[in-house]
Amino acid sequence: MSKEVVLSGIRPTGFLHLGNYFGAMRNYVRMQDDYTCYFFVANWHSLTTHPDTKELRNSVHRVIAENIACGLDPEKVALYVQSDVPEIAELYLYLNMLAYKGELEKTVTFKEKVRLQPENVNAGLLTYPVLQAADILIHRAVKVPVGKDQEQHLEMARNFAERFNYRYGDVFPLPYAFNYGTELVRIMSLDGNGKMSKSENQMATIYLADDDESIRKKIMKAKTDQGPATQNAEKPDYIQNLFTLMKLVSSPDTLQKFEDDFNASSTGNCVIRYGDMKKQLAEDMARFIKPIREKAEDIRLNSELLAKIIRQGADKARASASETLDRVRSSVGMNY
Ligand code: TRP
Repeated sequence: MSKEVVLSGIRPTGFLHLGNYFGAMRNYVRMQDDYTCYFFVANWHSLTTHPDTKELRNSVHRVIAENIACGLDPEKVALYVQSDVPEIAELYLYLNMLAYKGELEKTVTFKEKVRLQPENVNAGLLTYPVLQAADILIHRAVKVPVGKDQEQHLEMARNFAERFNYRYGDVFPLPYAFNYGTELVRIMSLDGNGKMSKSENQMATIYLADDDESIRKKIMKAKTDQGPATQNAEKPDYIQNLFTLMKLVSSPDTLQKFEDDFNASSTGNCVIRYGDMKKQLAEDMARFIKPIREKAEDIRLNSELLAKIIRQGADKARASASETLDRVRSSVGMNY
């Protein structure tokens, strides 16, 4: 039996960070043995918000290198750059005829971007979900590992696929958001303000490219407080986040010790020392990130290897994409 098709896209805006790693990439790595996987760098999507492409080239190379450093194997998966697969653009064209202005204008991400960049409300921004649907449907993918913020785009992709199938014949299976387990690991910003993010407050975000010293500095600056006021207290979000990180990168014994200290603490008897906890976490985090950073850097600076990987990914992606596009063209009747 052929394996189900998994696909996800990564926007090359900014450096990858711990939230990307534990929320997304670590799952991709687990999927590569169980599914036929397509992972790509969404550089066309970047143009909707970042028309200046000077930085884009470096970002694309960085994202490819970092994904491999995190464990994606370009022999097992198709790891490619969106713009290397022109078939996506043609499918986008057909899907655009099935997407209504009204529904596109109602999309949450569109409204948000209109608010953020009122001076550049371009048509690409409006049809962002259509391009995303084309990304997915071009490989007839059914499982799309994405976070909650992408659910609406997935629902739109299903709608476009259904409309296509209804009008022109059954070509596309319906894609759904998918992740291993039930809960995605959510990594908060170290200042306690929302999710770790590629662009906001760099001091509160740990990037996969950070050196040991920056990692230590950032963790030592992470938000804490005077400690719990009662035994077995509930942890505030920003304290829970430190425990979450410790669970991901430290030994179980280390985690247990600080859990016990936390639970034994109360006002006037604070057993947990957040300074010690952060020092330990900083060391364990630096040890965890180091091999990823070094491997990514090796690949990134090896332009020959990088070019080979990118071409290999494009070849795999185009083979699958052109097969789908042939079916699309004959279903639509565009095969003269
Ligand atoms: N919109 C996604 C994001 O912002 C990136 C993306 C583009 C994507 N095309 C995709 C994700 C296709 C999954 C499938 O993160």
